[in-house]
Amino acid sequence: MGDERIAAVEEVPADGTLLYTVADGGDEREAILLKLSDGSVTSFLNYCMHWTDVKLDTGDGAPVRNGDVVCRKHAATFEKDTGVCTHGPCEGAQLDPVSVETRDGDVYLADDDYEFVRTGVEDGDPADLSTDPGARLGF
Ligand code: FES
Repeated sequence: MGDERIAAVEEVPADGTLLYTVADGGDEREAILLKLSDGSVTSFLNYCMHWTDVKLDTGDGAPVRNGDVVCRKHAATFEKDTGVCTHGPCEGAQLDPVSVETRDGDVYLADDDYEFVRTGVEDGDPADLSTDPGARLGF
């Protein structure tokens, strides 16, 4: 625990997110790193609390507005420190947290529930690289 390096702290953008993949048992799941204004880093699974198959970061960083992460689908906003939805269709819900710790300028996975797999998207899902989040139909 705490020995799986994800990325350097400086690689985590203040105005976006850094996508990485963890394994939960045999299943790969995506997660995001977020940088707070004090330079510390938090992490949550990369799935909106409104429609949980919708990813916040589709490979190019989730948008951040006024310090909150924004879901592109229906514009729910989530606090970067707590993951709580402050506005939108899932207001009050909380993103699934992933424990991380920073040490000597690097971010490490520190969560017994997950194993670090890689930075970037999960395997076999090239749709994640789509730059057109509106391509998925249905409201
Ligand atoms: S799917 Fe994220 S706000 Fe609706």
